[in-house]
Amino acid sequence: MTILFVVAMEAEAAPVRAALGLGGEGTVLHPAFPGRLWRGGGVALASNGADPRFGVDAIASQPAVTTALHAIEAIDPRLVVSAGTAGGFAARGGAIGSVYLASRCVFHDRRIAIAGFDRYGVGDYPVAELASTATALGFATGTVSTGNALDAPAVDLEIMTATATVAKDMEAAAVAWTCERTGTPFTALKVITDLVDHPEETAEQFVRNLRTATATLADAARRLVDHLADPTLSPTHRPDQEPPR
Ligand code: ADE
Repeated sequence: MTILFVVAMEAEAAPVRAALGLGGEGTVLHPAFPGRLWRGGGVALASNGADPRFGVDAIASQPAVTTALHAIEAIDPRLVVSAGTAGGFAARGGAIGSVYLASRCVFHDRRIAIAGFDRYGVGDYPVAELASTATALGFATGTVSTGNALDAPAVDLEIMTATATVAKDMEAAAVAWTCERTGTPFTALKVITDLVDHPEETAEQFVRNLRTATATLADAARRLVDHLADPTLSPTHRPDQEPPR
């Protein structure tokens, strides 16, 4: 069975496809959405494509759900990997180019202060237990936290401190929710392009470091696939029922 990488931006997806030996144009996943799928040799990559109206990569949580769902329905993967770049935190050991596998996956911007809805907002989705894989490959582990904004206002930073977030992205928790609903094992593989707790603008850091970070991401994806070639893998982990804050 196949390992499926779900990737948002073409600048992230292209080097990963090359590293995984996935060539060609891919196939359309659904006529109403721009997501495409490449598959072969026990791996697959689904990317969100460009938004038809805005002409930019369809990043953030909504396309992450549709792409992941359509690709899961198409190939029934044994593991889904939300792969891409993320913001890191020097205060928690992060640096440009750090590679993380998720040990926990939450949202930080679905703040709903009503009993029950608070925990629904955070999500805390099942994440595959891959600690020994991370150790073997030299990847760090930690909380991947998702929101629909590139910036990080104080209220989000407070939540990410409470969840000890090491990688702030815009898709992983949305993919994780889709995986939970479809019973598909999930992880996130993230490489740091910018430090959230650094005075330089996030966008400037991101643009400057994107090329080297995506090269690192491609190498990490290839090494992860090689390591997980063992078909006996059974990565499921249920998070604690306690809300994170
Ligand atoms: N992707 C790369 N850097 C990011 C950041 N700081 N926030 C959200 N997504 C990102």
